[in-house]
Amino acid sequence: MLLHGFPLSSAMWLAQREGLSGDHQVITPDLRGFGGSRLGDDEPSIDAMADDVAELLDTLSLDKAVVGGLSMGGYVTMALARRHPSRLSGVILADTKASPDTPEAAANREAVARRVLDGGDLLDSVPNLLGATSLERRGMVVGRVRGLVGAAPAQASAWAQRAMAARPDSFDTLRALSVPALVIVGDEDKVTPVADAEAMAKALPDGRLVVIGRAGHLSAIETPETFNRTVSAFLKEL
Ligand code: MLT
Repeated sequence: MLLHGFPLSSAMWLAQREGLSGDHQVITPDLRGFGGSRLGDDEPSIDAMADDVAELLDTLSLDKAVVGGLSMGGYVTMALARRHPSRLSGVILADTKASPDTPEAAANREAVARRVLDGGDLLDSVPNLLGATSLERRGMVVGRVRGLVGAAPAQASAWAQRAMAARPDSFDTLRALSVPALVIVGDEDKVTPVADAEAMAKALPDGRLVVIGRAGHLSAIETPETFNRTVSAFLKEL
């Protein structure tokens, strides 16, 4: 089960669905409000998204799954580990971090939430999401990510910004994790840099860290072959 980042949708996992579904059941839900999922009327919280994932596992009659998330999807994965640990048989944390927002970061998220509710878009975040290599190549990846970001609904974007601002520190959750975990990070990730990944890997009782070269914050989109190979090797190990 792969959980997408902000402000994207399950469509970000196209290469993973193509590359991994020969050997595995690959489930890529739209987190609430994004893609084809309803936002609902709960207060903004990453925990609500994690409860949605547990409910989806119930609906699919799956006791357990290897759950992975990229960035915001990683925050949801850590909330799932905190709230529904028995549903996990392994964890993948890609381009994400266990630390909470600083007060400055939380204030910035509130400003972004207000801006999108006022009709603004999030396209100015694209250069930050991509690594220098993807930006220099100016290839299809940039256009694809702009398309995904441009499709993000305003209400969901504001809701998710507020949910992320309220998320707690997850280092204790990682320390208590009883299943194997894979941490992945692009070496050009500017949003959640390598140091954040190293800190998570260090906290995990059974963690391994893979740094992918020439990838930014969206490693699964920017370097799909390496990302898929890394995930495949981990799943084989499990
Ligand atoms: C994401 O890619 O999900 C976001 O950049 C996460 C964040 O804003 O912390």
